[in-house]
Amino acid sequence: MGAGKSTLGPPLAERLGRPFVSIDAVVEACEGSSIAELFAARGEAAFRELEERAALEVLAQRPLSVIELGGGGLGSAATRAALDEHAFTLHLETTPEEAWARVESSGRPLARNRNEFVSLFEERRALYEGANASARDLDGAILAAAGVHVAEGALANLDELAPRAGDIEVVADEHVDALYGGSVRAVLGGRIVGSHVVPAGEPAKRAEEVERLWSALRVGRSGMIVALGGGCTLDVAGFVAATYLRGVPWIAVPTTLLAQVDAGIGGKTAIDIAEGKNLVGAFHWPAHTVIDTNVLATLPETELENGRAEVVKTGLLAGEPLWELDLSEQVRRCASFKSGVCLRDPHDRGERAQLNLGHTFAHALEAAAGYSMAHGHAVALGLLAALRVSGLEDDARLVEEILSPPLAQVEREAAWAALARDKKADGGQPALVLLEAPGRPRIGVEVEPQVVRSALDSLIA
Ligand SMILES: NC(=O)c1ccc[n+]([C@@H]2O[C@H](COP(=O)([O-])OP(=O)(O)OC[C@H]3O[C@@H](n4cnc5c(N)ncnc54)[C@H](O)[C@@H]3O)[C@@H](O)[C@H]2O)c1
Ligand SMILES: [Zn+2]
Repeated sequence: MGAGKSTLGPPLAERLGRPFVSIDAVVEACEGSSIAELFAARGEAAFRELEERAALEVLAQRPLSVIELGGGGLGSAATRAALDEHAFTLHLETTPEEAWARVESSGRPLARNRNEFVSLFEERRALYEGANASARDLDGAILAAAGVHVAEGALANLDELAPRAGDIEVVADEHVDALYGGSVRAVLGGRIVGSHVVPAGEPAKRAEEVERLWSALRVGRSGMIVALGGGCTLDVAGFVAATYLRGVPWIAVPTTLLAQVDAGIGGKTAIDIAEGKNLVGAFHWPAHTVIDTNVLATLPETELENGRAEVVKTGLLAGEPLWELDLSEQVRRCASFKSGVCLRDPHDRGERAQLNLGHTFAHALEAAAGYSMAHGHAVALGLLAALRVSGLEDDARLVEEILSPPLAQVEREAAWAALARDKKADGGQPALVLLEAPGRPRIGVEVEPQVVRSALDSLIA
């Protein structure tokens, strides 16, 4: 009580694309009177019965809702069992002082006396500890729902996050293994039955690597894979986890800025084949994504730049200057934004396409450069083009100031041909992700070819 559930619940439901159901409101609607009236007229025990009935009904009948349930509801064993069976439970953390400040003048039946309120809070605390996760704010709640943990020093808690039992195999990027493999092995200790190093960067995403890992793995179905590295390592290890024994759970431990804000979230995994990048893959959401922003301290500047372009992209989609925050807060907010989009569209059939903002142009430049261009450089230019086509010149100038990408040194015709191929692969319709304004993306916008062409040309030296 007083944790802020009714304030946080509706925006959380919106960010997850699910209906919001308040058990109190269901009881009030059924009984035609307010909770305070019910307490006064029929007493707490009668209210608890109504609350239990409503909770059991809602939990059994409305899948994929965000349900607000007060702490008192956990007193019912039947409700606790239904929560275990049907729900992911999130404990909204607060202190008795914060909670009292919120409720003291609310007139709620159980919030009339400070001392009684505080002792009730302490009494119920043990029940809250059984929740699947806990959070303090909206971003924290979204991250919890997505299984994403962001903290400076999170690596040291990896053992608490990796579900209690079962064998673990570590798949690590060669550079990252040398830097952090030792501490990960120290934390996970005797549970590790195998450690595998993959080459740094894109060479990790080859079918030969997948086959090598399939043959080397010894975990059973109750075991799990822990992937440690940038987007390339996560992509290959996640794909191996998706396919080995028809799927074993995995934990993503992204160590680049790009992987912390992008590749480590959303459950897409992929490898490359001769015909193109990311052409073979699977959706396989990691059981947890553990993001330790401290590891960014060793990341080379060029790799930080790759991530920064995605941070700016995310800020434009979210309509907030996320790039202005401290690095670890940037990561937390971007990870939460992508988590929300991906939970709303887990299989990439709709609005998740917004994450491609700037990427149609970026992919064309990368292809024309024979993939020798840094992804962040291409995305920075691609964002400029998307903003210009959107008619958002001021935002384009802002992005130019923040990322200052040099013009691309590629053949115009080659870039244009690559862009046309990209569209064809998507069904032939020349459709782009544009912004009506920052925070208001539009997907699948058809744009006159000459407008696209001149935006592309403006990116090339
Ligand atoms: N699955 C998805 O949803 C998704 C989304 C975006 C991108 N991706 C994929 O991600 C890949 C790019 O990932 P990336 O940009 O993370 O690059 P990367 O995995 O190639 O890592 C970049 C370099 O940084 C090094 N490195 C990583 N962490 C380090 C650390 N903490 N300290 C020092 N060095 C470190 C690596 O050894 C490597 O040399 C692409 O293949 C792309 O297709 C996937
Ligand atoms: Zn990208």
